[in-house]
Amino acid sequence: MSQSPYRFSAFVNDLKKMTRDTANEDVLLQRIAPLAQEAALSQDWHTDHTGEPAPEEDFILSPLHLEDDNSLYIVAITWLPGAITPVHNHNTWAVAVGVEGCETHTLWEISGQPEQRKDLGLSRGKVISVGRGDVLTMTSRGIHSVENRSQQNTVSFHVYGKSLLHTNRLRFFPETNTAGPYY
Ligand SMILES: [Fe+2]
Repeated sequence: MSQSPYRFSAFVNDLKKMTRDTANEDVLLQRIAPLAQEAALSQDWHTDHTGEPAPEEDFILSPLHLEDDNSLYIVAITWLPGAITPVHNHNTWAVAVGVEGCETHTLWEISGQPEQRKDLGLSRGKVISVGRGDVLTMTSRGIHSVENRSQQNTVSFHVYGKSLLHTNRLRFFPETNTAGPYY
């Protein structure tokens, strides 16, 4: 499906076709993962990453693509040393590819229903290092937190089924087994 070098515009076209043709999220993620890896490492999308984080934030978002219907959100994220996210979901599928440095993703298990927002039975699951070329996929049900435990900025390339401003995603509080709106 891809050609060399894999252009960012070709990746977007492939994504559109795959999401049109594939209803099953697990199958879709299997198909997207190798192409997202190739697109991320080709860096045809490359931005200069000279932005500054928003006040009190420890990451810089460089949006690369969004469809008019708010689907297919692609973004490069620069994580500052020590950056750590809340525990959160996306309420859409997600693919993260490491580009520079190494990020640590903690996957969280849940025994309750996220929409209940209490008695969630949250516990730490797998911890996964995402370095250059590593691909992490998450279904809409996935919950994770991300850290940059290194002393340098890290960069990763993320693809989501929808804009994260339009998924009513949640942040989770493992200490109290509760959840609330992300934003
Ligand atoms: Fe995330």
